[in-house]
Amino acid sequence: MSKIIALANQKGGTGKTTTSVHLAYWLSQRGQVLVVDADAQQSSTTWLEDLNLKGEILNDPDELFDRLPQLKEEYDFVVVDGPASMSETTRVILTRTDLALVPCRPAGLDMHSSNRVIRLIRQARDLRGGMPQAALFLNQAKKGTVLLREAQAALAKSGIPLLNEVIYDRQVITDAPSQGQVVWQMGGSAAKSAAMEFDRLFAEAWEKLSGEN
Ligand SMILES: Nc1ncnc2c1ncn2[C@@H]1O[C@H](COP(=O)(O)OP(=O)(O)OP(=O)(O)O)[C@@H](O)[C@H]1O
Ligand SMILES: [Mg+2]
Repeated sequence: MSKIIALANQKGGTGKTTTSVHLAYWLSQRGQVLVVDADAQQSSTTWLEDLNLKGEILNDPDELFDRLPQLKEEYDFVVVDGPASMSETTRVILTRTDLALVPCRPAGLDMHSSNRVIRLIRQARDLRGGMPQAALFLNQAKKGTVLLREAQAALAKSGIPLLNEVIYDRQVITDAPSQGQVVWQMGGSAAKSAAMEFDRLFAEAWEKLSGEN
């Protein structure tokens, strides 16, 4: 069964594009993947080309509504890289996606603004009889900090499950796009740790998709 997986959070810079491209690479070992770039501002086109991954820019809400089901027929996985700010576009994506993954940075303001996307997910679920599946995860966290523990405690109460795996703030992740690579291809122990974190995060998300919990 084909699936649409969206990285959604109207808060800018939480890791939607970074995670979309890494997820697309991870899924490309499992089937045919398309990345839909729904962000008019920052396209990941060159990065995707370097990785030999297919991408399509689609940022008009009506276009997204109509095209996503067609693309789902054509590919095993459609990864949607959601935009910042545009709630209308995010709303439409949530009416079409099977799974919404919400990256949150453990910073006060970011945590507060993730309430907006959580609300949109609840509304979509209301309309779609419980769909989409959804999960939050923490990105760009600093190991062992109070901020991280507080963020985990706050997000655990949001009503949307929080994935256990945390993606830490790592220079290799920042460097990946300019090198046209993903962490699995990069050398060094930090890249290896980042690769293991993404593997575990996506395995957890995968379980959500297969309805195991
Ligand atoms: N875990 C991480 N460690 C280090 N840097 C990261 C990490 N995640 C994201 N970044 C960096 O943070 C910045 C924002 O990430 P990204 O572009 O993926 O966010 P976004 O949610 O797509 O942003 P926008 O809302 O503007 O589209 C980028 O420079 C990216 O390289
Ligand atoms: Mg982006």
